[in-house]
Amino acid sequence: MSASSFEELVAEASAAPVDGWDFSWLDGRATEQRPSWGYQRLLGDRLGAASAALDVQTGGGEVLAGAGNFPAAMAATESWPPNIAKATELLHPLGAVVVAARDEPPLPFADAAFDLVTSRHPATVWWAEIARVLRPGGTYFAQHVGPETVFELVEFFLGPLSEDIRRKRHPDVERAEAEAAGLDVVDRRLERLRMEFFDVGAVIYFLRKVIWTVPDFTVDRYRDRLRELHERIQREGPFIAHSTRVLIEARKPA
Ligand SMILES: C[S@@+](CC[C@H](N)C(=O)[O-])C[C@H]1O[C@@H](n2cnc3c(N)ncnc32)[C@H](O)[C@@H]1O
Repeated sequence: MSASSFEELVAEASAAPVDGWDFSWLDGRATEQRPSWGYQRLLGDRLGAASAALDVQTGGGEVLAGAGNFPAAMAATESWPPNIAKATELLHPLGAVVVAARDEPPLPFADAAFDLVTSRHPATVWWAEIARVLRPGGTYFAQHVGPETVFELVEFFLGPLSEDIRRKRHPDVERAEAEAAGLDVVDRRLERLRMEFFDVGAVIYFLRKVIWTVPDFTVDRYRDRLRELHERIQREGPFIAHSTRVLIEARKPA
C-alpha cells in the first residue's frame, strides 16, 4: 500500500464520529472476541426479576436497551453530553429515565432506592455509592474492563508500563474494594480475549473512542508511531492485542 494510503486511512478514521458506544464502524477492520458468559442476556434475566433498577454509566444506552425486561422503575445515569442525548432518545421511549450525572459521587438517588444496580465497562466504580443506593438484599451486577486490557496497544504507544498499572482493575483488588463497601462478592470471572486490528485506521478509531487506552492520544502527537504501525501491519498482518473482562456480582447483605 502506498504512503498516500496511510494518509487516507488517517483522514478517514480521524473524521469518523465517536459518540455512542457502538463499534460497528470497525466491522471488517477489527475484531474482538466476546466473553463467554453473554453479559446482555444475563443482564436481561436480572432486570426481569427486579422491581427498581439503575444502570450506571449507560453510555449511548445500547446495551441496556437491547437487554429489555425493564422493571417498573428503570433509571440510567450518563455523564458525557453526546451520550446523554443518545441514551435519552433510545431509552425514554422504552420507559427508562436517563439522568445526567457526573461519574463521581454522589449518585443522584436516595439510599436504598434500587434492588438492582448494573454497569458495563464503567470508567470509574464507586463501591460505597453503589452500596448506598442498594436495598438490603439488593444486587450489583456488572461487566468491568479487567487488568492489562489492550496492553499490547498501550505499550506500543507508551512503552513498558509499571507493575502497579498492570495490577489496576484486577478482580482481587475489586473484590477487596467491594467488601470494604459492605458488599459480598458472589460471582467473579475473568476472561482474556483476542483482538485483531487489520489497518491503522481501525487503531485510530479505537483510540479516539476508548479515550482511556492512550490518555494523551491524538493523531498528530503519535503520527510517527502510527506510520510505523501501519508499515508493520502491511508487513506482518493484523496487530494482535488482548482485552480482559471481569464479570462481577455482589450482594448487599439483607
Ligand atoms: C466505556 S463507556 C460504557 C458505556 C455503556 N455502559 C456500554 O457498555 O455500552 C463508560 C462511560 O464512558 C463515557 N465515555 C465514553 N466516551 C467518552 C468520551 N470521549 N469522553 C468522556 N466520556 C466518555 C460513556 O459515556 C460512559 O459513561
